[in-house]
Amino acid sequence: MAFQKKEKNGGFSVLPRHLGIIMDGNGRWAKKRGLPRTAGHRAGADVFKDISKECGKLGIEQVTFYAFSTENWKRPKEEVDTLMKLFHDFLITARKNIEESDDMKIKFIGERQGLDPELVSLMEEAEIQTAEKPGTLINLAINYGGRQEIVSAVNRLISHGKTKITEQDISDNVYTLPDCDLIIRPSGEHRLSNFLLWQAAYSEFWYSDVLWPDFKKKDLHKALRDFESRNRRFGG
Ligand code: FPP
Repeated sequence: MAFQKKEKNGGFSVLPRHLGIIMDGNGRWAKKRGLPRTAGHRAGADVFKDISKECGKLGIEQVTFYAFSTENWKRPKEEVDTLMKLFHDFLITARKNIEESDDMKIKFIGERQGLDPELVSLMEEAEIQTAEKPGTLINLAINYGGRQEIVSAVNRLISHGKTKITEQDISDNVYTLPDCDLIIRPSGEHRLSNFLLWQAAYSEFWYSDVLWPDFKKKDLHKALRDFESRNRRFGG
């Protein structure tokens, strides 16, 4: 069920209750400008901040951003280090501005093992400090893989003694619910790339050729306008 809101919703009659965004195209954006890939990620981080604020203004209940996949460790060390530093710096700034910051809650989804312990403690701090905020829940997927999420849900169930598993059991043990209503992927790629596999069973998809660092509020609005007109039947 999509999320209906009368106020604060930018004039949309229906908004996705859970929106997923695959932030893609940073490398190509940088290459086009003769810059290192890391410059693309820096520009992409600024867009992440703008777009999450806009989602907050629109009153979308939950937005999941794909920031670092379990496969992204294969990238050159300099690129991985830059991404980790961007997450770190974002959290340091968020901590400083916690009082006056927007109403948004922050949560991290993905495997924490393997991440720098200092980063993990900043992540936990941000989750605790924003848990009671009334606004949009921003999930940042870091060291995240959809298959890994399902496998760890199943392993948790097994460790609790379950021998027969239902769909509801898995839903109860994935990182985040509800099901994802809409997935936005910029940069011209039409793939899911191991993102929200469980939650995407009935997702609508919206693609654009715009590279993530060039993605603007108007692109988000275009996607939401399109979503509003979709006829969702959920297999019925
Ligand atoms: C994919 O584009 C993008 C990533 C692997 C990283 C996404 C991360 C950010 C935008 C930074 C987010 C920052 C914060 C603070 C949350 P790509 O590099 O694979 O692009 P390409 O396909 O053009 O090479």
